[in-house]
Amino acid sequence: MDHFLYRDGALHAEDVPVAEIAATVGTPFYVYSTATLLRHFRLFDEALDGTDHLVCYAMKAASNQAILKTLAQAGAGMDVVSIGEYLRAKAAGVPGDRIVFSGVGKTAEEIRTALQGGLRQFNVESEPEMEAISAVAQELGVVAPITVRVNPDVDARTHAKIATGKSENKFGIPISRAREVYAHAAALPGLEVIGIDVHIGSQLTELEPFELAYKKVADLTEVLRADGHDIRRLDLGGGLGIPYTRSNEAPPLPTDYGALIKRTLGHLGCEIEIEPGRLIAGNAGLLVSRVIYVKQGEGRDFLIVDAAMNDLIRPAMYDAHHDIDPVIEPAPGVEAYPYDIVGPVCETGDTFARQRPLPPLAAGDLIAVRGAGAYGAVMSSEYNTRPLVPEVMVHGDQFAVIRRRPTFDEIINRDTIPEWL
Ligand code: LLP
Repeated sequence: MDHFLYRDGALHAEDVPVAEIAATVGTPFYVYSTATLLRHFRLFDEALDGTDHLVCYAMKAASNQAILKTLAQAGAGMDVVSIGEYLRAKAAGVPGDRIVFSGVGKTAEEIRTALQGGLRQFNVESEPEMEAISAVAQELGVVAPITVRVNPDVDARTHAKIATGKSENKFGIPISRAREVYAHAAALPGLEVIGIDVHIGSQLTELEPFELAYKKVADLTEVLRADGHDIRRLDLGGGLGIPYTRSNEAPPLPTDYGALIKRTLGHLGCEIEIEPGRLIAGNAGLLVSRVIYVKQGEGRDFLIVDAAMNDLIRPAMYDAHHDIDPVIEPAPGVEAYPYDIVGPVCETGDTFARQRPLPPLAAGDLIAVRGAGAYGAVMSSEYNTRPLVPEVMVHGDQFAVIRRRPTFDEIINRDTIPEWL
């Protein structure tokens, strides 16, 4: 459920007409709903009611500080995967002891900054990284709390580019080697081993892969405890999928997911962490764009809009489907017409949808790309020297620009010309 609904024939973000934001900010832009973000966060939080837990929002999904602050004020922790994200979370007021540091390639510099600023734990992905963390911690005279990310060799049954839990993926240590890796970690002076971490992929639309992975983690917890490790925290990653189409998708709900966690791991008495990103932010954001031209092609019409693949890369990169709606609600009975919806970038991949039925649209009309709140703005670029799209946040009847559109001077003046030219 989200808070982007038609009211009096016009699409609203909570209580604000989307067209009003477009008139103020210009297009294209991202708009997020505070109520939807909070609702999704609370669904996870409540799903783990009765268990000692922390929902660590995977801020890679959408990392604007206004989003982070909204969630942090509701009690969320953060899952970060770079020191940039760590510093951004800190800047948004997230306390270090609610920040989990994941990621396969943390550098010594990143490790040092995080240890100095304080963190909840590192989720370690390899033995060399484990040694690096121990060395930096010793240098600073501290002990680093860690979990080790295990790769359970489970098929997440999602898009290959976002599946992470098979043995051929670069993530984690093979679960078959866990005992020796944990023994190694325990012997390193700068580390305190506190738990296990697992994350098998993103946009999972079934619970079964989670169940397989979590059962393996449950077994491993008992084995490692028998080996003398004090396993007291389980980080179960993110990955629960969202409906990208209104019609035919109904991925499992956070309540079902929470029940599964309790069923598979509840008996262990561990503190539970989860790292959802997409489900919190995905349907809390729209990308709003304006039709520049309607172009008649050979056997098809193109809706050329002012947003492009640099603003939302998911269709080009993962062949992702996003529902697209006109901002003016179609009158009842208006016949839909199939459009190819494309951006101005010089690549055929710059296509948001092919043969998508929409009511007849004309130059100047606004459209809204749904499900764009996660992995939208954060993956945007300035390809074709197109400015990064502004981000807007709505709260009831208020809205605010939370990242403004850069000027062309700002973009161009970031380049420096070498002396010899
Ligand atoms: N934890 C870890 C360690 C992760 O790598 C990820 C996502 C998450 C949590 C959050 O997963 P989520 O709940 O959002 O599924 N750009 C891609 C998705 C990449 C996901 C990367 N890791 C897309 O647009 O579909």
